[in-house]
Amino acid sequence: MDSFYIVGGSRLEGEVVVDCAKNALLPILAGSILIEGEILLKNVPKYSDVLAMCKILEHLGAKVRFEKGDFANEDLYIDCRDIIYSDVSNELASKVRSSIFTLGPILGRKGIAKVAYPGGCDIGLRPIDIHITALKQLGCKIVDKNGYIYADASKRRAEDVVLSFPSVGATENAIMFAVLGEGETRIFNPAREPEIVDLQNFLNCAGADIKGAGSNLIVIKGVKRLHTCSYKAISDRIEAGTFMIAGAMCAKNLVISNVNSAHNQELLCKLSKTACKIKVIDDKIIMKGGGRPQSFGEVETAVYPGFPTDLQAPMVSLACICDGYSLIIENLFESRYKHIGELLKMGCDIKCKNGVCIVKGREKIYGAEVISPDLRGGASLVLAGLVAEGYTTVDNVDLIDRGYYRLEDKLSSLGAEIKRIKCEKRVDNCD
Ligand code: EPZ
Repeated sequence: MDSFYIVGGSRLEGEVVVDCAKNALLPILAGSILIEGEILLKNVPKYSDVLAMCKILEHLGAKVRFEKGDFANEDLYIDCRDIIYSDVSNELASKVRSSIFTLGPILGRKGIAKVAYPGGCDIGLRPIDIHITALKQLGCKIVDKNGYIYADASKRRAEDVVLSFPSVGATENAIMFAVLGEGETRIFNPAREPEIVDLQNFLNCAGADIKGAGSNLIVIKGVKRLHTCSYKAISDRIEAGTFMIAGAMCAKNLVISNVNSAHNQELLCKLSKTACKIKVIDDKIIMKGGGRPQSFGEVETAVYPGFPTDLQAPMVSLACICDGYSLIIENLFESRYKHIGELLKMGCDIKCKNGVCIVKGREKIYGAEVISPDLRGGASLVLAGLVAEGYTTVDNVDLIDRGYYRLEDKLSSLGAEIKRIKCEKRVDNCD
């Protein structure tokens, strides 16, 4: 796997444009299975998770191609007209969590499905029981055997679905299953993330009849079929948040563009307590450095619109250099603290017990050789490297590539000293 080599001490200056959201694109790619025609997704960053989902679609029989369009990133054309298969192998499914998002649409389109258990970041058990229960409530027959989900929708029915927890993926699966067919399906206690609203908007643009995404009740009226459409996903609130946290750590004059600040209210509120001066003008966040950040106090992760679990790790890195103590509580994933062991190598002062982290900010942290444990943990190590004294190498950068596209190029364009060391150039063996 590739590594990043970072020399600490730069201050970020200039403008960075946030890409389209990974966690909006992944369910939208799954939703394209429902559409018998070619769709166009504009300005699609080549996150490795997006490429993994494209491989799954091609395996099912879809035609997929990237083509230069009018935006910085290429456009993605997907034609699921000739989807003939309804199985997703372990080899394909185990690469990404979002592979499980294909279960609902394959079932909705083909009536049967055989999908292997998903992969994804190693941040907890990440069961799929809520997905299964939702589909059973809609009349599907589900057998969970040998690491595969075998599903049959021949006795499907439009019903009320109650999610025991507002799971993002389970909400998306239930929506996509209910789109084609008859009758009205209501989803109670759904997830309310902006990416769910984006999935609704994409499917409605293709002729679906979905209302209420983002609220506590989603209503889907089944339709016979969907038609082609072109769509651009929302901006990535987690990438935006990552750059905002980097700004709070080491901005001089930083402009973050293509941001929907309404999706980052919790973070903006926390960062307003640090020394950084922050202004929001239209889709831009303007950050002026203000010396060593003050502690933001405490962060407790929650489902949207609470503080996003995906920004917990970057916030820990900010806390490590703040003046004062910070408290960080992770409520969503039981093993989402693996970055802390790596931060301790950099001289950070962190105590962690039962999901509660107390961080004593240090004036200085030090470069080290660290290993990215997962996507957002890896990003937190990059941020720490930007401010550490000396140099830092971050290994397993392929995990970071899952959800940040060309991160090193974006940071370099802002004045950071960071470069990618391709695996084949390394002396030790590459895994
Ligand atoms: C989505 O994962 C995101 N991934 C995650 O982003 C994000 O952290 C998470 O939502 C929460 O916001 C994608 O959209 C591809 P959940 P998902 O189902 O759908 C438990 C990133 O870094 N649960 O809302 O898997 C689960 O274990 C990634 O971009 C069950 O118990 O999240 C967790 O504790 C990481 N049973 C909680 O619910 C289930 O059937 C939230 O999971 C499903 C979930």
